[in-house]
Amino acid sequence: MNTAESLNPFKTNSRIVITCANRNSTYVSMELKKLGFPVLGTSHMSVETEGSMADCMILNLHLFTAHRVLYLLDSFVAKNPDQLYEGIYKIKWEHYLREDGYFSISSYSDNEHVVDTRYTNLRCKDAIADRMVSVFGKRPDSGPMKNRAVIFVHWKNKDVRVYFDTSGDTISKHGYRKVPWKAPLQESLAAAIIMATSWDMKTHFINPMCGSGTLAIEAALMAQHRAPGLLRSNFGFMHIKGFDITLWNKCRKEAAQKKIKTEGYRIIATDIDDRAIKAAKENAKTAGVNHYIEFVKCPFEETEIPQGNGIVLLNPEYGLRMGEEKHLKATYKAIGDFFKKKCRGYTGYVFTGNLQLAKNIGLRTSKKIEFYNAKIDSRLLEYQLY
Ligand SMILES: C[S@@+](CC[C@H](N)C(=O)[O-])C[C@H]1O[C@@H](n2cnc3c(N)ncnc32)[C@H](O)[C@@H]1O
Repeated sequence: MNTAESLNPFKTNSRIVITCANRNSTYVSMELKKLGFPVLGTSHMSVETEGSMADCMILNLHLFTAHRVLYLLDSFVAKNPDQLYEGIYKIKWEHYLREDGYFSISSYSDNEHVVDTRYTNLRCKDAIADRMVSVFGKRPDSGPMKNRAVIFVHWKNKDVRVYFDTSGDTISKHGYRKVPWKAPLQESLAAAIIMATSWDMKTHFINPMCGSGTLAIEAALMAQHRAPGLLRSNFGFMHIKGFDITLWNKCRKEAAQKKIKTEGYRIIATDIDDRAIKAAKENAKTAGVNHYIEFVKCPFEETEIPQGNGIVLLNPEYGLRMGEEKHLKATYKAIGDFFKKKCRGYTGYVFTGNLQLAKNIGLRTSKKIEFYNAKIDSRLLEYQLY
């Protein structure tokens, strides 16, 4: 490979680290395998694979459960902040960044030299700016905005890894939730929850207590093979030299062609509150899936459960963020009754951050799958409703 090519990250393979919410790496790994990428390592909050920045474009487009796609640019040893500066300065930033552009640094530091990551950010920013001035006589602007070139520096003990954050702003948001409602699930978490269920995308998906509609919308997007990144127009990789807009448009076109029409099952989303249903409908419209979801305002017990089978998935309030625990005991008990009386033949799921409250459901769980909802230790509880 000649030098020009090896300096083009869009054509050069490297390690790619995909970050995600705590406990979600299983689902990112599942998605990676489906997309044909190898899984080279996992932790609670990340999965490693390999590929070029062109591959990062595909990952940003298709991944439902990820937060960021990081492309490894360089790694070196730094025993102190001056060596960090030197190592960063040595990288040929002029090949990657535009002198009239903008970049942002974020970092993770775990060593004796850093008590505040802003210090790492500052030293790295200075090193990049000084290098750019030495080559071009001027430097790009820099600041906290993540909507242009984003560099992520991981400095643990002496080991430094420098990445391009090819996502820029996090891809955990899928770009359709324009109308907010109380206690919404993060879109990437909602997708992971659905992947943890037994839903086969051919049977009914019933979502009482739908709130802003996140679960139902993610279900519709996943079933129709709609890439979540198609709803978004800006990513970090677009601001790195070598970005090929023609190739990007081809990736988008191919992703759009993967969309399939699905039939034979229903997605039903209900909520007791008018405002929730209104928000959910608007969000589904933005996501382009409003025609595939039946939204109904009703108490959860009155949700239609069609003949056949599928899953019934509820995300009730759980006292920490909304509603009071005492009043919620009765709601959880009523969910158990609803499952028993109306949902035979289905698999029931309750996603909650309050296991004490969940005991009021009064049915035996067949699985308890661990999640975090932000920092709240949460479970997806599964019930076989024979
Ligand atoms: C935690 S929120 C669901 C959030 C949702 N998963 C999202 O991502 O936006 C719980 C929802 O349950 C609804 N709800 C509460 N009690 C209800 C009941 N008895 N019947 C139907 N919906 C109810 C609330 O209006 C609220 O929208």
